Amino acid sequence: MRVLVTGGAGFIGSHLVERLLERGDEVFVVDNLSTGTLDNLAAVRDHPSLHLNVDTILNHPMMHETVGKVDLVIHLAAAVGVRKIIEAPVETITTNVRGTEIILDCCAAHGTPLFVASTSEIYGKAGDRLHEEHDRVMGPSTHRRWAYACTKVLDEFLALAYHHERGLPVIIGRFFNTVGPRQAGQWGMVVPRFVERALADKPIEVYGTGTQRRCFCHVEDTVRAVEGLVACDTAWGEVFNIGHESEISIRGLAERVRELAGSRSEIVTVPYEVAYGEGFEDMERRQPDTSKIRGFIGWEPRYDLDDIIRSTIDFMRA
Ligand SMILES: NC(=O)c1ccc[n+]([C@@H]2O[C@H](COP(=O)([O-])OP(=O)(O)OC[C@H]3O[C@@H](n4cnc5c(N)ncnc54)[C@H](O)[C@@H]3O)[C@@H](O)[C@H]2O)c1
Repeated sequence: MRVLVTGGAGFIGSHLVERLLERGDEVFVVDNLSTGTLDNLAAVRDHPSLHLNVDTILNHPMMHETVGKVDLVIHLAAAVGVRKIIEAPVETITTNVRGTEIILDCCAAHGTPLFVASTSEIYGKAGDRLHEEHDRVMGPSTHRRWAYACTKVLDEFLALAYHHERGLPVIIGRFFNTVGPRQAGQWGMVVPRFVERALADKPIEVYGTGTQRRCFCHVEDTVRAVEGLVACDTAWGEVFNIGHESEISIRGLAERVRELAGSRSEIVTVPYEVAYGEGFEDMERRQPDTSKIRGFIGWEPRYDLDDIIRSTIDFMRA
């Protein structure tokens, strides 16, 4: 197949690109390197079947031409990360809404099937065992954090509208926290941030009380889910949660990272207002119900939390 991966120089994108090349696909990448980096693609940079274009998905004529060359689009490019969303809300909203609109327009013009990456953030403050039809609970528009969730919800609505009105084959994957080698901590991602501090024996900063609970999925499991879904005839037009169901508190995560890294770091708590400024809101739990994807393609995560932490430690040490 010929596949376009937008955001292919990013964390999840680079793992997906490697997997597609490994199975013999011709892969096109469009990435503006805003949070991605060419280092992520170092292992495949010279692969004859990789076509890398450092450009923005907001370049409509270029996207139209590129989508015309492929059989499938996997759309991962987005402004990602809580810190990024708070610091650059205009860029976030523009990239995530206008960018996806351009890609949907190009896919509809060429009749090209599309996988759209969404996020567990769209559930907002709705708690545990979140199934795909669960109600969403959003905070106010004055809290910038919710902008990311709202842009992704709009992406979902628009993608489903293209499916219903124009017959465009789309799949929406809602990623819950995905972690592993190459994830950068600078935009607020918790596991690489904790590992970085633990390896330096510096204080590990837990934002809020640390009792908030999260689930973590290894990037290789996420990539396998995407690969399985786009190969499944009945998955088109559907929305899927993609994540690990086991939960851990953020303080528990900090302790596990410290232990596995053999670190002497102290664990300290930092109030949300200090970490992110006034008006930041977080949710106590965010746990997926993944029975739908299991039913469609038999997908189960293969890696547990210790595997995830160890692979991040190994990557950061290297
Ligand atoms: N990692 C997670 O835990 C997680 C959770 C939920 C959803 N997601 C979604 O998965 C996708 C990939 O996220 P990631 O974790 O790999 O983050 P990432 O930041 O590593 O990847 C995003 C990529 O998109 C690129 N990009 C941003 N704006 C662009 C633009 N205008 N034009 C071209 N490229 C652009 C960035 O340079 C980067 O390479 C995103 O859509 C994100 O919303 C990720």
